[in-house]
Amino acid sequence: MPRTSSDLARLRERTAELRKALDYHNYRYYVLDDPEISDAEYDRLLRELETIEREHPELADPDSPTQRVGARPSERFEPARHGVPMLSLANAFDVEEVREFDRRVKRLLGLDEAARVEYSAEPKTDGLAVELVYERGAFTLGSTRGDGVTGEDITRNLRTVRALPIRLREPRSPDRAWPERLEVRAEVFMRIKDFEELNARRLEAGEPLFANPRNAAAGSLRQLDPRITASRRLDLFCYGVARPEGLPVATQTDLLALLPEWGLKTAPIVERCDGIEAILDYHRRVAAMRDSLPYEIDGIVIKVNRFDLQRRLGEISRSPRWALAFKFEPRQGTTRILDIVAQVGRTGALTPVAIMEPVRLSGVEVSRATLHNQDEIDKKDIRIGDWVVVQRAGDVIPEVVKVVTERRTGEERPYRLPSRCPECGSEVVRQNGEAVARCVGGLVCPAQMREGIRHFASKRAMDIDGLGDKLVTRLVESGKVKRPSDLYHLTKADLLEMERMADRSAGNILRNIEQSKARPLDRFVFALGIRHVGETVARLLVEAMGSLDALMDASTDDLQRIRGIGPEVAASVHEFFREPRNRGEVKRLLAAGVAPVPPAPAAARGGRLAGKSIVFTGTLEHMTREAAQARARDEGARVVESVSKKTDYVVVGADPGSKAEKARALGVRILSEAEFLRLVDGDA
Ligand code: IVH
Repeated sequence: MPRTSSDLARLRERTAELRKALDYHNYRYYVLDDPEISDAEYDRLLRELETIEREHPELADPDSPTQRVGARPSERFEPARHGVPMLSLANAFDVEEVREFDRRVKRLLGLDEAARVEYSAEPKTDGLAVELVYERGAFTLGSTRGDGVTGEDITRNLRTVRALPIRLREPRSPDRAWPERLEVRAEVFMRIKDFEELNARRLEAGEPLFANPRNAAAGSLRQLDPRITASRRLDLFCYGVARPEGLPVATQTDLLALLPEWGLKTAPIVERCDGIEAILDYHRRVAAMRDSLPYEIDGIVIKVNRFDLQRRLGEISRSPRWALAFKFEPRQGTTRILDIVAQVGRTGALTPVAIMEPVRLSGVEVSRATLHNQDEIDKKDIRIGDWVVVQRAGDVIPEVVKVVTERRTGEERPYRLPSRCPECGSEVVRQNGEAVARCVGGLVCPAQMREGIRHFASKRAMDIDGLGDKLVTRLVESGKVKRPSDLYHLTKADLLEMERMADRSAGNILRNIEQSKARPLDRFVFALGIRHVGETVARLLVEAMGSLDALMDASTDDLQRIRGIGPEVAASVHEFFREPRNRGEVKRLLAAGVAPVPPAPAAARGGRLAGKSIVFTGTLEHMTREAAQARARDEGARVVESVSKKTDYVVVGADPGSKAEKARALGVRILSEAEFLRLVDGDA
């Protein structure tokens, strides 16, 4: 703070000087396209001026270059040089390339071809590489990778990432101490759920959407205003250090076990693999988990485990010879829309579907993508003939992300859903406020019949093996089957009339139909195809009501009282069973001999978790979430989605979400995966 008037005069002079210089350099840059100084130098001048103006509002001036928004698209962050260059990884896309990598490692190390090298196998999280510098345990500098030698100083933004410790934890013993200066390498990423929420907010605000979680993470970290970064939920996994030499560990896997002791988060599912076959097995298992992880991974990273061997192998052209990325097939691709057709679903909903030139997405050939509804088509301005980016995310049906408008030729044709059902010619209506257009042909529409029967017979419903899509279509077309109960009156002669049906398969199908009569009641309820009633809701309904009669006669209030059932679902169930045609069909099914098995009361079954409610959160290590839930249900537990005071247990896997925090806050008993398994296996 200047104390004297001469100090102030000097500042005033400096302010004028800075403004003049900045204006001059703007001119050189924008007008002459011939800058004299570097972006970094320009930025320093601008920052100096900003600081003076902030501390001395009396010197502010609306014409100051600081008042220009985005005064210059300069390097907005200070450059930060990495003490040790941040290398990148060589990529492999198939097993043969990975075997070749292993052979080369052995050759370079002078090992026998049959020898097994010990590797660290890690998921390759799809985010943004950063370096975090800790000096005497304090986080002092965070930077992007940049060109590998120099990145950008994004310390202030990284400080807002909650998983990043501002101070390292004290070591548990002196021999586990951190070094004076620690340079950690980490991947910053955004979880899929946070990415979707962010995009939903942006959509509402009319802001452009991020194409994927990685872009969202990068965009969030490179924000000049750290408050914006803070409002975006980012996460990180640490995967290495710049100089492992001084550390009390000799291998990568030991390092990944040490970092969390210092408060540095690492990825779950890291394994030490003995030899390349173990790596390939790891790759298969992780690929199978890919869709159930709460964040995107785009492959695995293989590293020679011992640091001394890593040093011996060294590096070549910016990537280490001791590491390799084994990539998964990409989820996104570009292709052309050949046509758009309207597909009629079980409830009569018309879904526009893009027919595309085949493209490979995460290992599967794709030629159809859902366009959801007319609003989506309009919003994304999708036309027949367009080049589009398509993606497969998780198990879901491929969808069109966006149009590559630069490739338009003017030949593309806009599309509108038809006003008459393409299957039965009935009118198509869009109810007020609904995005979905529906065919009103309910009972006469062959598409609705077909889809309803397909659903009824499907694996997760009545599980009638052999009754595939083609056969259902033929049965509906022949007029032999109009509704599910007709299936139970089919004769062998009926089936043999169908094209390409052998005597033996007809017999098998009839047997399977017969066997389906005794499915559990919840599957039967799911099979009826009531709107909003998926498998979980069906189970809740059946467990609470105990019998089909009780369910059919339940009032909306009765239904709403069931935990996990909201007003919309309750109304839909109630309406379904109030409709005489639906009640009639249920009666016909029962008359044909269908006898769904009601659940035994959980307590009566005497399961180890009888009467308990349980929530699962995070990624489990030894089983999928679905398997764990099924196991809990087998033991009589009620599996619920959200944590409340009434929840008995919360099973917490790796990277749990807010549910774990909530459980802690409410004092609900938290179980690790191992504790859960002990509990259900009865050796608790
Ligand atoms: S090791 C010298 N391990 O992948 C080794 N990288 O193309 C350098 N990444 O820039 C990287 N997970 O952004 C390593 N477990 C992991 C990783 C990982 C994600 C990213 C990182 C790096 C890029 C390599």
